[in-house]
Amino acid sequence: MTREALKYGAVNLSQGFPDFAAPDDIKRRAMEAIDADINQYAITWGSKDFRDAIARKTKWYLGLEIDPETEITVTCGSTEGMIAAMMATVDPGDEVIVFEPFYENYAPDAILSDARPRYVPLRAPDWKFDPQELRSAFNQKTKAIIVCNPNNPTGKVFTRAEMEFIAGLCKEFDALCFTDEIYEHILYPRAGAEIGHISMAQIDGMRERTVIVNSMSKTYSVTGWRVGYCIASPVITSGIRKVHDFLTVGAAAPLQAAGAYALSLPPEYYDRLQREYQERRDLLLPVLEQAGFKTFVPDGAYYIMTDISGFGFNDDVEFTRHLIREIGVACVPGSSFYSVPERGARQVRFCFCKKDETLNRSAERLSKLRPR
Ligand SMILES: Cc1ncc(COP(=O)(O)O)c(C=O)c1O
Repeated sequence: MTREALKYGAVNLSQGFPDFAAPDDIKRRAMEAIDADINQYAITWGSKDFRDAIARKTKWYLGLEIDPETEITVTCGSTEGMIAAMMATVDPGDEVIVFEPFYENYAPDAILSDARPRYVPLRAPDWKFDPQELRSAFNQKTKAIIVCNPNNPTGKVFTRAEMEFIAGLCKEFDALCFTDEIYEHILYPRAGAEIGHISMAQIDGMRERTVIVNSMSKTYSVTGWRVGYCIASPVITSGIRKVHDFLTVGAAAPLQAAGAYALSLPPEYYDRLQREYQERRDLLLPVLEQAGFKTFVPDGAYYIMTDISGFGFNDDVEFTRHLIREIGVACVPGSSFYSVPERGARQVRFCFCKKDETLNRSAERLSKLRPR
């Protein structure tokens, strides 16, 4: 969709990357690291100062004691972290449970690990799962469940009760949980709702069963740096480190040096990030509503899932093509997030990690959108 947006000059609200500048101080640290000749391979599982910073930050934010020597693997983005974790733990014939709609990589990650993805629906408008349906997806072959929290594409933030229910099943069926927590700081608290980041590793009895997959990409607005990390027990970490060594050897050394600085920033950095994303969300939501979309208000992450039933198009792909070519705004067709395209045929996703001027430009263009 990014390529389509470039081809037709559309405002790109499809792929989730910021079009605003990354923080100056973080960029400066990367430039200083290159200048100081931190230009050779770091330790394959991550430079010590970066792992120490990850451990300190995880203690501050999640209250978890992590041993940087045995429980952290630095990877090339969370993308590598997730597949390295799966390849390290999942065997041929295993099943991996994936909530649907899903972030596009999870099913291919499972398939590349010779496992079978098994889908459990999150249903609009509040994207809850049916506890019985989830329970019946677990069986003797279940090796793991993937929980993306806060969730892309839905914006769902799992409640403590939901996390505890999933944890109970993992313990009962001796399964692991891979948690994708890259939007952990992008949350939209609201009165009367329990919106706060909960990591599965914080739930009783889950620390040893959880692989936290995280990254600098979203929290520090550096999606192109490709620096992420996995946090897991020493036994699992030992497997992840081996897979990681053969997949990529290591993440960029000077960017890990900048990461050590970024992950040591004070709480005010994260407060500001959250405030600014709330403003962007609150700018785009009414624009989409006025243009005729039914929106599902996100509690976290930086996407808005919408229902396009009111526009009279055959499906999400036809609609997206029209939006890019005739209106000049790019989004992602809902079917990209489902195992069966028809399930997403009435949905499209917009991202709002963009400058106000970009969002305002999309508003002008979307005001010309009419039902068929
Ligand atoms: C849920 C989720 N996980 C992982 C990624 C990829 O992250 P990274 O840049 O850390 O590889 C994205 C990117 O959009 C995402 O939305």
